[in-house]
Parts: sequence; structure tokens; C-alpha cells
Amino acid sequence: MCGIVGYVGQEQAAPILLDGLKRLEYRGYDSAGVAIYSEKYQKLQVEKAKGRLQVLSDMIRGGEDLDGMVGIGHTRWATHGAPSDVNAHPQVSRSGKIAVVHNGIIENYAELKAFLIEQGVPFTSQTDTEVVAQLIEYFYETDQVDILEAVGRVLRRIEGAYALGILCADKPDQLIAVRKDSPLILGYGKGCSFLASDVTAIIKYTREVGYMDDDELAVLTKDGIQCYNHLMQPIEKEISHVDWEIDAAEKGGYEHFMFKEIMEQPEALRRCIFPRIREGEVYFEDFGLTEEEIRHLKKIYIVACGSSYHVGVVGKYNLERLTRIPVEVALASEFRYMSPIVDERTLVVVISQSGETLDTMAALREAKRLGGRILSIVNVVGSSIARESDQVLYTWAGPEIAVATTKAYSTQMAVVDLLALYFARILGTVEESEYHAVLDEMLLLPGKMEAILSNKDDIQYFASQYFNHDSVFFIGRNVDYALGLEGSLKLKEISYIHSEAYASGELKHGTISLIEDGTLVVALGTYGKLFDKAMANVVEVRSRGADVLALTTENRREDMEKNANAVITIPETHDMLLPSLGVVPLQLFAYYVALMRGCDIDKPRNLAKSVTVE
Ligand code: F6R
Repeated sequence: MCGIVGYVGQEQAAPILLDGLKRLEYRGYDSAGVAIYSEKYQKLQVEKAKGRLQVLSDMIRGGEDLDGMVGIGHTRWATHGAPSDVNAHPQVSRSGKIAVVHNGIIENYAELKAFLIEQGVPFTSQTDTEVVAQLIEYFYETDQVDILEAVGRVLRRIEGAYALGILCADKPDQLIAVRKDSPLILGYGKGCSFLASDVTAIIKYTREVGYMDDDELAVLTKDGIQCYNHLMQPIEKEISHVDWEIDAAEKGGYEHFMFKEIMEQPEALRRCIFPRIREGEVYFEDFGLTEEEIRHLKKIYIVACGSSYHVGVVGKYNLERLTRIPVEVALASEFRYMSPIVDERTLVVVISQSGETLDTMAALREAKRLGGRILSIVNVVGSSIARESDQVLYTWAGPEIAVATTKAYSTQMAVVDLLALYFARILGTVEESEYHAVLDEMLLLPGKMEAILSNKDDIQYFASQYFNHDSVFFIGRNVDYALGLEGSLKLKEISYIHSEAYASGELKHGTISLIEDGTLVVALGTYGKLFDKAMANVVEVRSRGADVLALTTENRREDMEKNANAVITIPETHDMLLPSLGVVPLQLFAYYVALMRGCDIDKPRNLAKSVTVE
């Protein structure tokens, strides 16, 4: 949420900042701004605009209008203060000397603002961030300390989560970066340095990055970056090399990132699965849990938000089925408020694409505090969740830019399935034949996914039939229910159609009263063992007037066609893996429906990709 970028070097900063912000727009897109130190005018120049980044870019002619080789930029997802020019970042101090970009929330801003107003400091915005800029200047001017000390004094007073980029007109050769509970990375270039919310913003310029830790401060100049700990003692930062290609973060000819990422899934799955199957066995490099520790586990908790949580719901079915260890799935935003039962024999599996989701991070910390063992499944390498976990399994899906997750979901699921097999093998809870059947099928998943994707026109056709419904129900049992949760979320978040997922058996307990002539029901009937029951539910809703679009496996198409209005099929696979295939047509369906409704698919209203506020 909110994208930050900063540059100090030997080139014109503004175009570089705009380019970085373009890649960060998925983090927020209600307004954008830049602050540059102008050598010509010997002061900060700040330009901000409500709306998409393009508005700002047009306003400053792609950055050409601003001279200066040091600057900060921001793309916003509003928390405090409505989207507007004034509330856009950078926020500046009253003299215009200090500019700040911020991701996160300053929780005690009201109290600090009241203090500053008492001291006669005028405020222009409704943001919590302006307090930071004003407070830095207050200490800088009143206490006559240098800018670093002034920032240090502010850090001792602010509470909450923040990643900050700070530029002071009196120190035009440097940027200051600070982080607590919000992501911030440093980029080491040749004759230049960067700060950014994530790697995608700067990968075009450098692949050498450092991940800031909480309570660290960094001073960036064109000649290098010096980091300090919370006591302002200099520290050495480990530099990591980012090895993915810039194309991975670009649209590459596709109209939308979401579509590109849907299409990339077979490849992402190959990267995620293939290296982890060796000689017919699941293989995890450097797996930190010993066999004895695995045998000692008495419970698994899966904690995550949104689609990652939906992976957990499928994971529960698969992990319990194979390992016979009880699995509880919790929404990360609820976890720390529900007295979770976690001890040293509990494995807490934390799932997150971004590795930065604040609620998930808070749940992780709570689980750790309670003594749980933390294993995270994360896509973004070096992210906060990855770094705070006892153990990480990366999904290797590559950068995911569209707000609606697709390839991260698929790869997360693959990792959970591999984990279930790995544990089951050690625990002796899976038959040899089933173990190999699942593994063999996992190797076939990418190819089967390709087959589904090659029939995307069929899904586009169904989308054209149904895109103008305003309410949709997804129903299914067992893994089909879990799949429905994801299908329904995908549809509603990008097409704005009201949609809900129900366990089919629950229909009769209330929801069926909503079914009337023409209601669209997406009936998921891929799970063979419960196919007859799925069919019974189709008949039930059809007889009440529903229009049924069904999803099933190829060999059940004919049966399903007897009762459903339209049928989409996926190739046969092992029961456990059905959601991995089933999700693809549902992603495509959501995509095409949103396209036909003219929605902004990659940037749905009110959403941001990385949710770093509670
Ligand atoms: C939906 C979606 C979100 C995320 C959720 C968790 O398409 O992308 O529901 O799954 O915000 O994000 P991560 O996985 O980054 O923790």
C-alpha cells in the first residue's frame, strides 16, 4: 500500500522516479507526487496530482520539467485524508525545506499534530504524514540539530508502521530512508543510490539490493549508502543480487498484467514444482525441520489473508487427508484476537505472496510469541515475513503485479501440496501408491494447465453470456468449496459483481432463498467422490430458476450437461490437485467478465496489492 521511490545520482531524477512509480502503481493509485531538489532554484520543487500517475506525468511532461538529480516520489493508497492534490505525498514542512514520502500509518499523529499546532505550526493536509515532515522541521529548527538527529528525534516519538523517504533542501546530496513494519529496500547503483518499496521499481537500474530491517535508518548519496541501527551505530548491510529479468515485471504485449500472469502459470508451476521433485521424492533444500520435529508436531495452523487464506482452506483438506495432523486455518486479521492455541508442537504455516501483509506479519509475531514454529510460504524474496520466519519455502512465481493474484495462488497451492506429501512420507500416513500418484500428477499440472489456457476462448464466450448479472453464487463441496471461495473473490474484486461462495450443503440453511429466476450460480463439481451431491445441488437451484454455469472434469461433462445450462471442463487429475486446475477457468472467467464490464482490471477500485495497514 503506497509506493515509495527515491533516487540520488548523476542523472535527472524526475523521469527515473516516474518510471519507478509506474512499476509501483499497483500499491496505490489514487494520487501521486514527486519532490526534487532543484539546482536551478536552490530549493525543493514538489509536484502532486490526484488520480493515476499518468496525470502527474502529463503535468510535468514525463519529468522533463523538473531539473535536479535527487528526489523522492510516491503513489498513494489513501488512509488518512481523502485522495486529493493536497493529501498526496510528498508532504512538506511549513518552510518547504523538508519533504517526506510515507507508506504505513502514524498511529499517534493526532496527538503530535495537536502539539505542533500549539507551537504555531500550520497544517495544510489531513494526512498523518504531514506530521512527520513538520515534526522533523520543528526539531531541526527549534533544537538546531542536524537533519539526521532531527529525524532520530522524530523516530523516538512516532508510533505505528512506516517506511519513510526524506529529502532536506539543506542536504541536497542525500536522501534518508527509515523503516518500521513497512517494506523498504535500498538499491546500490553505479554513481547512484535508490530506495523503493519493492525491487520492481529499481530493477531497471540496479540488481544489487539491501533489505532494510525495522528501526534501521539509511543515508543515501550518489557514492553509496550508509545504514545505522536504532542507536545510530553504523552497520553493514548485506547486499543481495536480484536475478529475475526486467521483462518479468513488464506487460510484454499483454493488455493487462492479470492476463499475463494467468498465462504464466504453467511456467511458474514448473519453476516451483520441478526442482522440488527428485527421483520420485519430494525434496526441499535446507529444510529446517528435522524428521523428529515433524513427528513431534501435534497441530498445524495455517494463517493468511485473502487468496492466500483460500490456499490455506484447500491446504487443510489436503494436509489433513495425507498427514492426519489436525489443521486449523485462520484469517490473519483475526488470529491475534482469538486466543489461538499454539505451542512448541504447533507448526504455523504463514502464506503470503508479498511477504509484507501487515495482518499476516502480526499473526506471525503472535504465533512466535506463543512458541510456535513458523514456516512461511512466500513469493517475494527477502520480504519481511520471509525474514522473520524460522523457515521459508519460496513459491518462485516471479513478480506478480496485478492486484488480483493468480500465479502466486497456484504456486502457493503447489508448495502446500508438496509439504503435505513430504510430511506424510515421514509420518508414514500415506500409501506408497497414493504418494507417487499425487507426485506424478503434480508433474503433469503445468501441461494440463496449458490445455485449459488454450481453450480460453470458450471461457470468454461464457463470460459474454453472463457478464451482466449482478449477483453470483459459487457453490461446491470439499475442495470445490475451497475453490469457490477463490473463484468468487476473483470475480467480485475485479468486476465489482456481488458474489458469494457457499458450501453447497449450506444452501438449504438460508441462502437458497436468494435464488430466483435468472440468478447465476457457478456450480463446482470437480471432486469425483461428491459429484452426485454436486449434481443434486445443481438440480435444486435450477428448479428455483437459477442459471447454472458448471465446472467439472472432462469425463463428467455429459452428466453435468444434463442439468446445467453451460459446462466448463478441466482435465482429470488427482482429487487433491483439482483446485490447482479448477482455479484457472475461474480466473479467466473473472478476467473476461471484468473486461466486458469495462473495469480497470489491474487496479480495481479501493484495492492495493500489498496491504501494509491493518
Ligand atoms: C486477491 C488478493 C488478496 C491477497 C491478500 C494477501 O486477489 O490478491 O486477497 O491474497 O491481500 O496478500 P499476500 O498474499 O501478499 O499476503
